[in-house]
Amino acid sequence: MYKKEFEQTGSIKQTCILSLFIQNGEIDKIGIEDLPKQFLNFFLAGTETTSNLVGMIIYYLTQIKQLQQKLQQEIDQNTDQSALALSNLPLLNATIKEILKYQGPGNSLLDRIAVQEHYLEDIKIEKGVIVNVYMKSVHRDSRFYTDPHCYNPLRWLETKENKYLLPFTYLPFSARPRNCVRQHLALIEARIILNSIIKNFNFELNEGYKLILDFKFSPQPQNPLSIYFNRR
Ligand code: HEM
Repeated sequence: MYKKEFEQTGSIKQTCILSLFIQNGEIDKIGIEDLPKQFLNFFLAGTETTSNLVGMIIYYLTQIKQLQQKLQQEIDQNTDQSALALSNLPLLNATIKEILKYQGPGNSLLDRIAVQEHYLEDIKIEKGVIVNVYMKSVHRDSRFYTDPHCYNPLRWLETKENKYLLPFTYLPFSARPRNCVRQHLALIEARIILNSIIKNFNFELNEGYKLILDFKFSPQPQNPLSIYFNRR
């Protein structure tokens, strides 16, 4: 359909992966078998991560009641629910930024294959070896962060962490050309979902629940989070 539209009009109205490949004359580079793979890639990368991010924030807000209340105040005062306005709420954004540092869903998603032999100081990495950059070890490094193991969204409101962050010390979406292609969408989604939940509900953890994390695609609670939501 897109090919036909391109042949007839010289352009394609809809912008999507296929239309871009067709317009760039590169459609032959994708085989039919690539389509389900790419679908799965986007589906998993796009759903698991953001839902995990929101779930973890809700969990930590049940643990820090004061933060939950402060966020409610910030959100109650904001009358504009647009994505742009939500991107300007300091505490909401600091809370998201901190969970991405503390327990980000993309922690173990940074794999690379060594294209040549290389030494990391005295550690030899042979060509062809898969190297996983564990970003949590960077995010919890006391050379870059004060109280690195503490979940503290307020650090992002203070000048030190915000202004003097060194390059490549905050990597929740990775960096360089293969970084997360939809990181901005993920943040927009997270702000909208959290804004709506925090605005409408008080929430608390079921007393008997204990968080134990499993490390799968992303760090996941071993048992589903058990949280009571009470309409405000
Ligand atoms: C909080 C949410 C998210 C986090 C923390 C996250 C994190 C990451 C990380 C760490 C990578 C690996 C990058 C690398 O290898 O250098 C990645 C890749 C990717 N992400 Fe995300 N992501 C999130 C949400 C999303 C969403 C919502 C989508 C799509 C709708 C998405 C699509 C992708 C895709 C397609 C890749 C592969 C990019 C490539 O190989 O070139 N992600 N993401």
